[in-house]
Amino acid sequence: MSVHRPTPHDSARLHVTGAARYVDDIPTPAGCLHLAFGQSTIAHGTITAMDLTAVRASEGVVAVLTADDLPHANDVSPSIHDEPLLATGTVHYVGQPLFAVVATSHTAARKAARLADVTYDAKPAILTIEEAMAANSRFEEGPRVYTRGDASGAIDASAHVIDGVIDMGGQEHFYLEGQAALALPQDDGDMVVHSSTQHPSEIQHKVADALGLPMHGVKVEVRRMGGGFGGKESQGNALAVACAVAASLTGKPCKMRYDRDDDMVITGKRHDFRISYRAGFDDAGHVQGIEFVHYTRCGWAQDLSLPVADRAMLHADNAYLFENIRIESHRLRTNTQSATAFRGFGGPQGIVGVERVMDQIAHHLGLDPLEVRKVNYYAEMESADGGLSAPRAAAPLPPESNLPKKKQVTPYGQEVTDFVLHGLTTDLAARCDYEARRLAVAEWNAGSPVLKRGIAITPVKFGISFTLSHLNQAGALVHVYQDGSVALNHGGTEMGQGLYQKVAQVASGVFGIGLEQVRLTATDTSKVPNTSATAASSGSDLNGMAVLAACEALRARMADHLAAVRQSDPADVVFEGGLVRVGADEMTFAAAAKECYEGRVSLSATGFYKTPDISWDRIKGDGRPFYYFAYGAACSEVVIDTLTGEYKVLRTDILHDAGRSLNPALDIGQIEGGFVQGAGWLTTEELVWDDKGRLRTHAPSTYKIPAASDRPKVFNVALFEGDNPEATIHRSKAVGEPPFCLGISVLMALSDAVAACGAAYPALDAPATPERVLKAVMRVRGDA
Ligand code: MTE
Ligand code: MOS
Repeated sequence: MSVHRPTPHDSARLHVTGAARYVDDIPTPAGCLHLAFGQSTIAHGTITAMDLTAVRASEGVVAVLTADDLPHANDVSPSIHDEPLLATGTVHYVGQPLFAVVATSHTAARKAARLADVTYDAKPAILTIEEAMAANSRFEEGPRVYTRGDASGAIDASAHVIDGVIDMGGQEHFYLEGQAALALPQDDGDMVVHSSTQHPSEIQHKVADALGLPMHGVKVEVRRMGGGFGGKESQGNALAVACAVAASLTGKPCKMRYDRDDDMVITGKRHDFRISYRAGFDDAGHVQGIEFVHYTRCGWAQDLSLPVADRAMLHADNAYLFENIRIESHRLRTNTQSATAFRGFGGPQGIVGVERVMDQIAHHLGLDPLEVRKVNYYAEMESADGGLSAPRAAAPLPPESNLPKKKQVTPYGQEVTDFVLHGLTTDLAARCDYEARRLAVAEWNAGSPVLKRGIAITPVKFGISFTLSHLNQAGALVHVYQDGSVALNHGGTEMGQGLYQKVAQVASGVFGIGLEQVRLTATDTSKVPNTSATAASSGSDLNGMAVLAACEALRARMADHLAAVRQSDPADVVFEGGLVRVGADEMTFAAAAKECYEGRVSLSATGFYKTPDISWDRIKGDGRPFYYFAYGAACSEVVIDTLTGEYKVLRTDILHDAGRSLNPALDIGQIEGGFVQGAGWLTTEELVWDDKGRLRTHAPSTYKIPAASDRPKVFNVALFEGDNPEATIHRSKAVGEPPFCLGISVLMALSDAVAACGAAYPALDAPATPERVLKAVMRVRGDA
């Protein structure tokens, strides 16, 4: 049985030898054509003339398509049909696709795409949050507001009040494999599409609409992505649709991949946010009332911005119980790339807001920030340890004041019954020697005028499920072949996170066979229909369960047959160690499969799963959007150079709750990667647009993602093991996104280090680049 074992990623060998096949590696039939988009060079305006003569005359060009050449729908939006594949008169951002070049090579297509002579009637562009607010440029009529209690009254009645603003930048996904698609024309007008996408069913839907076909005329296949991180939930639509249209018009296979610069300029990124806040609290730092205003820069098209902004609101409380809270959210339309899903889907931005408040309260009162956080934590319910493993059951009980008197609910009315952060944080603090190191940091700083250290612990409580409830479903298709090998298929996509391996482990557990007997086949819309994006960290929760259901159905059929033949009880048939035992008979799983085949037993089954007990009214902000919460905490220590603002992360310790982990090796990989990506977002990854709306940081030369050398010098990651109280797949918890939020500990440690330079609160914005750290140092010293 391989469930819960730290087996390596199924493609690990292929990844490290370079043999893993991505879309651009798929051998294409002869005559394959290549596409590139001609792009808008202004942020807002109307096209008055578009002369494509030079483009058409360029070497290798076979066809040039504009909006007028599209046979059916000109739409690649995942939400409200506001995103044409090719511009129709008005342009909305620098980089927007205007036309598509179809040529004999990738380079020929890209060269030709630059030769267009386009004249625009430029209009004023709305680029910033201030400009959007002033122009009332937004995606919903007014702000969305969730409230509980009387926030402003409670703040005014408090002993202490703070307020402030934090700006946090967006983030480029920087998946190593850029966006790519390949369309292969089939018999009678059908189309096969290979796409680097998290959402094959949506690609299928969009391609079908663009070709005027029913969905059954389009098949989308995805073996793997070289990273998606949310950037391939919707952003692959344009490439797949363009290739399919070109393939249908030319009858040739058509392929498109974005060069890195094009990828950064054309596609959407994480939403940048401004969050302003006001909080009232008592002498212990216990919050009496709190208010947030979220300003979300969504870019030009709606895409997934509403659910992203909703999720930011749903994480405004993070780990803290607020009786009086008001959250107001503005979803602003700007003439920039259409911001999209990115690991955490708005959750991290919401959490940064409240973590900033905790940090500032502690600074205001001169308390240890960890104490202030703990005072405000939700309570751990006394019954929550039923059936838990040793480490979790052994976690210390919460302090008296935190024992729940009545049921505790989030600002959106969901009951919190599974809170584990008191025990988890205490455990982490002990493991990393937090208290002693905090004293040591203070002592070291007292004797160090130039270099200053800082240390911080931040927690995460992350809601698991798609907030659009109907998306929480999955299907699977499982075949047992007569040689005993098993082929699995499900709607989830593999992007490096290890989903295929986890699901294969589930199947191998049901049949009691080795992993080598189980094969995950490429995700394919013709095998499993109507799938959701692999997103919201729910891939293994949903698809693991669907595969479990299919495998259990097959095992039951096999047991029934094998038992009937031997006149024994199906309940006594055992699948274990590669063998099947029926009474005194013992045979290999392969022999059992062959016997069932010859006995004319159907050895193919589908499975289906839908998450139980969830409901959500996003307008009222009320319900139970999440099946459960995933928890974790991180302690980071940094050192800054107060003369240059440069810094290093010296050490990070993480304790993270993956429930009863399906695969501890893969989960630790997700936690490490998520943390580093989160820390990158808040430190070195800076997106800069100029006053014309041009993205100036459009390549790794100017956009700095973390390298291996940027990881903490000492990096200890451990799992907080224990059963998920909800009946998830083998009691595991989703792990894809929550650890991203642990990168916030680095921002708070930097804040702590800057605070050691003077009396004022640092109020560091993100990304906390060395420039921002230096400015903050000067501010708290009073020389700025
Ligand atoms: N890990 C790797 N290696 N590559 C990725 O693209 N995407 C993240 C996370 N971990 C990603 C990753 C995001 S945004 C999500 S939603 C989840 O994986 C999706 O996969 P899961 O639901 O199977 O965890
Ligand atoms: Mo992840 S942002 O939900 O793809």
